Amino acid sequence: MILITGGTGYIGSHVAVELVINGHEVLIIDNLSNSSKKALEGLKKITQKDIIFEKIDLRNSNALEKLFDKYSFEAVIHLAGLKSVKKSNEIPSEYFENNVQGTRNLISVMKKSKVKKLVFSSSATVYGIPKSLPIYESSDIGNTTSIYGKTKYMVENILREIWEKDNEWQICILRYFNPIGAHSSGLIGESPKGIPDNLLPYLFNVASGVLKELEIFGDDYSTPDGSGIRDYIHIEDLSKGHLCALEYLSDKHNISFFNLGTGNGFSVFEIIKTFKKVTNIDIPYKVVGRRSGDISEIFADVSLAKKNLNWTAKKTLEEMIYDGWNWQKKNLNLND
Ligand code: NAD
Ligand code: UFG
Repeated sequence: MILITGGTGYIGSHVAVELVINGHEVLIIDNLSNSSKKALEGLKKITQKDIIFEKIDLRNSNALEKLFDKYSFEAVIHLAGLKSVKKSNEIPSEYFENNVQGTRNLISVMKKSKVKKLVFSSSATVYGIPKSLPIYESSDIGNTTSIYGKTKYMVENILREIWEKDNEWQICILRYFNPIGAHSSGLIGESPKGIPDNLLPYLFNVASGVLKELEIFGDDYSTPDGSGIRDYIHIEDLSKGHLCALEYLSDKHNISFFNLGTGNGFSVFEIIKTFKKVTNIDIPYKVVGRRSGDISEIFADVSLAKKNLNWTAKKTLEEMIYDGWNWQKKNLNLND
């Protein structure tokens, strides 16, 4: 059985589908701070299976211990955590407690139960401001521009130390670029609570009339059209990367790091244009100042994941937007 922490969340729910349809037994834990049990209904419809769910907060070590006493896990895919770059700078201690201490608690219980296989969801934010592009796994890390990025960097370092002290661990760190879109069934997708921070969920809410206009955070970057460039990746491709990571770990006692992106960068204006092409909807927007902590441009070199994980992202930007919008149309209201 594979434990997925944060499994009712955006990425976790898609990873759960990928694992279950490929024959794995899955158990999900989540404290539901940024998701709801509704995701489990979508999961059941897609997989035709009941996935066991336990409401557990990673900050509660006792609850984690009881869970590991009750079930026998082969591996853990650890996605639970807080992810808003903006909020991380407003409430840093919450981010350290959930993301860093929460991970420490999980690792300590895993160690006690001799479960030493872990896939961890890190982020491209660990690279900070890139010195050159594309970004390789060997590029500099640590000069992060937010507390959120710092928590991911800290967890990566904790995991390196764990592995150095005990080489029995099997650890795969996945550095996600910008996951977008939704499952092609339209049954699960991203439902952030409150007003979204990320570009695509915000844009979808503008397109559906829930929000008035998109604010473009700066058109004065040194990019061809002046807006920020990111490496967007379809959530289904990203999820498949986790299955490949588990397969890779089956016979390796090492710690490894992989970029999960497409290797292509798109600007904010290109996203708006592609949305129009896919849906025929114009997005009202205004250009405002740069968002604090944002970088100009980042995209991944993805050859290491191709070589070692036998994984590449296949879906186009059009497919990402089509599937994301298909989900959003059915889920028009912002969650509280
Ligand atoms: P999400 O908020 O949809 O999912 C995270 C889940 O973790 C939520 O369901 C939330 O309720 C749960 N959670 C938070 N704190 C918890 C705690 N203390 N105990 C138990 N559950 C807790 O976010 P997501 O986009 O699915 O991200 C999943 C992981 O991937 C996160 O660690 C995030 O930092 C990382 N990541 C996300 C992105 C992105 O753009 N979405 C990019 C890079 C990395
Ligand atoms: N942007 C806007 N307007 C908005 C929102 C975003 O112009 O309303 C711009 C940003 O300035 C940036 C681009 O759109 O140029 C993408 O911004 P997102 O907020 O969607 O994504 P980020 O690259 O800032 O960060 C995301 C996640 C992090 C993750 C990181 C790298 O929020 O959790 O990707 O994986 F770590």
